[in-house]
Amino acid sequence: MTPPVTAASAPFLIVAIDGGAASGKSSSSRLISERFNFLHVDTGSFYRALTAGLLRAGAAPTDLATVQTALAALRLGTALNGRSAQMEISGQPVADAEIRTSAVNAAVSHFAAIPQLRAALLAYQRGQADVARAHGFCGLVMEGRDIGSVIFPDADFRFFLHADPVERARRRANEGQQDSIVERDRLDSSRKTAPLACPVGATSIDTTHIGLAQVVALMAAAIATKLAAA
Ligand code: C5P
Repeated sequence: MTPPVTAASAPFLIVAIDGGAASGKSSSSRLISERFNFLHVDTGSFYRALTAGLLRAGAAPTDLATVQTALAALRLGTALNGRSAQMEISGQPVADAEIRTSAVNAAVSHFAAIPQLRAALLAYQRGQADVARAHGFCGLVMEGRDIGSVIFPDADFRFFLHADPVERARRRANEGQQDSIVERDRLDSSRKTAPLACPVGATSIDTTHIGLAQVVALMAAAIATKLAAA
């Protein structure tokens, strides 16, 4: 006889959500994390926090030697902010206000294109699964650009969100943010290492004309089906 599924016997699930800027990743991954008691990991915030730290250290993305020296000096840790992971640099959480400045918006994709910087973040990002387990979460929902392709190619679920650029610009403006999302997407999609692209086999969702509730319902249905079958 099959034993009943309990919280302890349910599988630890990894959900990867990739997509361009303002495609709906953050809102949907937050809701999925609440619905299923998963740790929410916004890897864009990690790239932003590193960018803020590197800018503070006087590093420019065009000067690889300085970037590498500054990177080596940054001690990375993770704190919990509610159910979201927050990067700590040298024991200090990097505040949201510091990672959403126009200076960071303008520089982040340039730093993110540096293979050595991406390599430095790889183990840190995979290690978020251990952070989630250690804090008793039932899984992990990680959003970014290369989660389903590079960080967790074997994730239980891989979603790729996209939307019309005009609609995405409208969303950012509604949030009161000035952000050159088209330019960031251009840089993110054209870089050599881990470019922004829908991973082969991922579920692609166009969020231009459907609301957040519908996007989340699609994802949640798939996750619930897997949990029910466990
Ligand atoms: O998600 P968000 O727009 O905050 O990400 C900021 C930037 O971080 C992206 O434009 C991209 O350059 C970089 N990024 C990345 N890979 C990820 C997450 C973010 O290159 N997995």
